[in-house]
Amino acid sequence: MIYLEVINIVKEFGGLVANNNVSFQIEQGEIIGLIGPNGAGKTTLFNCIVGFHKPDSGKVTFKGKDITGFKPFETNREGIGRTFQIMKVTTGMTVLENVMVGAFCRTDKRNIARAEASEILSFLGLEGVKEYHINELPIAIQRKAGLARALATKPELLMLDEVASGLNHKETEEVVELLRRLNTEKKITLFLIEHIMEMVMSVSQRLIVLDGGEKIAEGLPGEIVKNENVIKAYLGEKYAKSH
Ligand SMILES: Nc1ncnc2c1ncn2[C@@H]1O[C@H](COP(=O)(O)OP(=O)(O)OP(=O)(O)O)[C@@H](O)[C@H]1O
Ligand SMILES: [Mg+2]
Repeated sequence: MIYLEVINIVKEFGGLVANNNVSFQIEQGEIIGLIGPNGAGKTTLFNCIVGFHKPDSGKVTFKGKDITGFKPFETNREGIGRTFQIMKVTTGMTVLENVMVGAFCRTDKRNIARAEASEILSFLGLEGVKEYHINELPIAIQRKAGLARALATKPELLMLDEVASGLNHKETEEVVELLRRLNTEKKITLFLIEHIMEMVMSVSQRLIVLDGGEKIAEGLPGEIVKNENVIKAYLGEKYAKSH
């Protein structure tokens, strides 16, 4: 059975075609990167999959089930989690409370939500900051808290929208390490949008490239860096020559 299948997704915003007949498949256990220039339609595609947008046409199936047009809480219940490009961590709440918001997608019991949130924070090495208010913390910790909140919804497929943006080299490496652990230890399939090429090239087993709403390439990182269309649309000659 195909794990995640996206078939001919089209999404327009008042005549602007943000996703134009995008199709691809993801296998269970994979780490897949989604790259492309600003405005290529990456976040829109995520939103069409998780149900923040209803695609104008096309289909999304997850583990053989048609989930097209499902609401976010419904795709979440099916096992799909996501983080947000613009962080939706709620200021005024502590780190622990933020992660509990995620856990409440699965339980209505406060003590269970608290225990699960605490466990995830320990896994991410954030137990020391759990009583801090989110907006008091450095961006790298805020990003991890966003990741923790998504993990608290217990996804088996986790979609990450620029989880490393704004982080320095060392912090980015930590995120890469964390993603690898989520994939190997927790068996979570990862689908990530990223602009930091070193990061996405090293962590992804396969890449999908969007440009102008269309999928222009798909393949192994080593193939993608040499792909003429991808170089022209996104990577630039300089990057291709230095790799
Ligand atoms: N809710 C919306 N309403 C109107 N237009 C939108 C909306 N969301 C996205 N768009 C437009 O759709 C196109 C694709 O945007 P999208 O955010 O998906 O790109 P992206 O690849 O995620 O870019 P970035 O790398 O900058 O995050 C852009 O032209 C954007 O302006
Ligand atoms: Mg985006």
